[in-house]
Amino acid sequence: MFLLISIKTNFMNILGISHLAPSPFGHYTSVAMLNDNSNLFAISEERLSRIKNDGGYPSNSIQFCLNQHNLRLDDIDNVTVGYGLEKQHIGQTMKEKFSCYAKDTGYKKTAIERKNPIFYDHQYIHARIGYSLSGFKKALVICLDGGGIDNGEPNSGGIFLVDHGDIQPIKYFPMYQSLGLTYGAVTEVCGFPMSEGEGKTMTIAPMAKNESKTNKEKIYGHMCKVFPNFKGIDVKSNGGVAFTSIFLHDTTITSVEDTRLLLLKRLYHKNLIAWAAQKRIEDILIDFVSKAVDMTGMKNVVFSGGIFLNMIMNMKIQQGFGDRLNLFFNPVCSDHGNAIGAVLEECYQQTGKNPIPPYMSLYLGSSYSDEEILFSIKKFNFKVNKVNKVDTAIDLVEKGKVIGWFQGRSEFGPRGLGSRSILALPTEQKYKDIVNEKVKKREPWRPFCPTIIEEKSSEFLKNPSYAPYMILGFQMKNPELYPAVAHIDGTCRPQILKRDVNPDFYEVVKGLDGIILNTSFNLAGDPIVETPYDALMTLKNSEMDAILMNDFLIERCT
Ligand SMILES: [Fe+2]
Repeated sequence: MFLLISIKTNFMNILGISHLAPSPFGHYTSVAMLNDNSNLFAISEERLSRIKNDGGYPSNSIQFCLNQHNLRLDDIDNVTVGYGLEKQHIGQTMKEKFSCYAKDTGYKKTAIERKNPIFYDHQYIHARIGYSLSGFKKALVICLDGGGIDNGEPNSGGIFLVDHGDIQPIKYFPMYQSLGLTYGAVTEVCGFPMSEGEGKTMTIAPMAKNESKTNKEKIYGHMCKVFPNFKGIDVKSNGGVAFTSIFLHDTTITSVEDTRLLLLKRLYHKNLIAWAAQKRIEDILIDFVSKAVDMTGMKNVVFSGGIFLNMIMNMKIQQGFGDRLNLFFNPVCSDHGNAIGAVLEECYQQTGKNPIPPYMSLYLGSSYSDEEILFSIKKFNFKVNKVNKVDTAIDLVEKGKVIGWFQGRSEFGPRGLGSRSILALPTEQKYKDIVNEKVKKREPWRPFCPTIIEEKSSEFLKNPSYAPYMILGFQMKNPELYPAVAHIDGTCRPQILKRDVNPDFYEVVKGLDGIILNTSFNLAGDPIVETPYDALMTLKNSEMDAILMNDFLIERCT
């Protein structure tokens, strides 16, 4: 009698989920998968559901991940979740946690529950992905966000020391004095939604530049009393920002009721309020980084957690410390990235290894074949021609056209980095206006980013460093020459592109003197396009001139 024993000798299939304490009211739901060939795939639920910042249960993205790898859920060895559990939920099974779900997730909650998923702590997972992408062996990792749960306790950040993958928490910061939520509260006071409009607050801040010194000093004094007061790496009480709260299952839906902030709203223009909040958070971080570095003696510093989407703050940190410290800003620092972080943590636990290279490219989604593209095109009345995509892109952009560039695997995270991008000339203000008003249909003051080829970065930027992710701002040398990509303060948030990262896109940018306007391929309020159909709908619903999709030039019929 033979006994057949199956021994798995290779790596594991790990599925990572970032989903706010399983509940229908989360945000930034994402899924990542590391397969047994060490290939990483990742996608946010919003790309498939087409709901911006979708926080629902990731039915679509789990299925999409499995389909991409031709796997079934039974083939997955481990499911991990990048959110910690509150104390009262520790020990609960996924089945119990999902019991509040609507019926439409019924089959999947059962299937996932059978996998007995592991919940990893929140800031810890922000630290894991930031550290893993940085390539550092030893590092100080600073995590700050709106909030999360570690060790069963809500918090708004933490600092960690990492040595060859071993992450040791040094300190967590309390939830009731969250830098992320305070900046979010100011964002609401400025008229933008919290958890979504913080980038707009950052953008309007420099528009207060002509305000009087007296006004600025006065409002900054007020803002010092609103923001939590860090002293060293300890946070001191200011009373915190007050919110009204509605509890729905595990999630709190908040709105600001802080009288100090509401009073500011009555007294000052939103640009000035944004300016004061931006300056305050920059000042806090500069002091905080200085103290944390002094305390730990570390020269390598990683930043992770949602507040590091603030690229102007990142720029100030870089300007303050870049000459003596090695800094890395996690490009997927918000909760999207914790799906990858959860996978990396589980991989580390199983193998002691980090499976991703430093500065990994974020082309982690799906690509689409010519057949899939042609199938989608049949649903539209567009003209299609096969062309040389690089030459055609250069030619069209040179002629002043605004084009969609849809190539290869989609980017993970909030930026279009040359797979799902809208491209235009950076050299005239009119292109900023056209892309804002006629293509993306959003506010005229919203700035755009440039992609710059690495060899030319010092031609366009002051003190450039390698920055491939649009997460770090730089002062431009001659912002007046590139008004479509320079903000009012002369800064820009570039993607600095090496040839081997995206050869076709590199050739396009090179052919346009090394710099191009590159914005994510979506309309205002929409997620970035994922499929050919999504891209074609964007062409149909905007005044974009054409799309280059694989080798097809797609234009309206005249
Ligand atoms: Fe977070």
